[in-house]
Amino acid sequence: MTQDELKTLVGQAALQYVPEGSIVGVGTGSTVDKFIDALGEALKANPQRVAGVVSSSVRSTQRLQALGVPVLEAEAVTGLGVYIDGADEIDHAGNMVKGGGAALTREKIVAELAERFVCIADDSKLVEALGRFPLPVEVIPMAAAQVIRAFAALGGQAQVRAGVTTDNGNVIVDVKGLQITQPAQFEADVNQWPGVVTVGVFARNKADVCLLGTAQGVKTLSF
Ligand code: A5P
Repeated sequence: MTQDELKTLVGQAALQYVPEGSIVGVGTGSTVDKFIDALGEALKANPQRVAGVVSSSVRSTQRLQALGVPVLEAEAVTGLGVYIDGADEIDHAGNMVKGGGAALTREKIVAELAERFVCIADDSKLVEALGRFPLPVEVIPMAAAQVIRAFAALGGQAQVRAGVTTDNGNVIVDVKGLQITQPAQFEADVNQWPGVVTVGVFARNKADVCLLGTAQGVKTLSF
């Protein structure tokens, strides 16, 4: 199976985790696009399939609205049962690196609203320890140079992602060369650096379930 087919498989499988008539949190990325497409199809067959969604990015909102899925503002809901999103890396405890699509801040906000995080990913994303994928960090532009120096002091090589402005008007700094052995501590520490809006380690908001697309089909990991 191609990577695209694996993404389709897990995108469709995620629908089982969405209760009938509920409001669901929707992440961002090429894997989530497959979930959005599956949700659009399900809504055509049953207009009550979901009451609406809370979206984590302009990109996902546009795709959802094009398929006629009602998109609600995060401020309009007090909680969500489930949040469906992809990841750039996931470890065997459900900790993730996210932000390859630059949507990490809104993703973390919507994930925080949800009781359960269902991660959908092809099996290339499963890692022994986080750090293989360059870590995305959303940073207020005037702090970018000092944040880059702070990562260099930790042994990382960081640079501003060229040509990217986030949905919140900030920049993304991508950091190579880190070994993130204690994700929760790392996330808490870096989040306190002045100018850091969101670090792309999702440990506080780690996955509860991962639907992993493999050549043998969907493998379900529970954490
Ligand atoms: C978006 O900002 C990211 O957090 C995505 O969830 C992550 O990059 C996974 O994207 P793909 O499904 O496109 O690999």
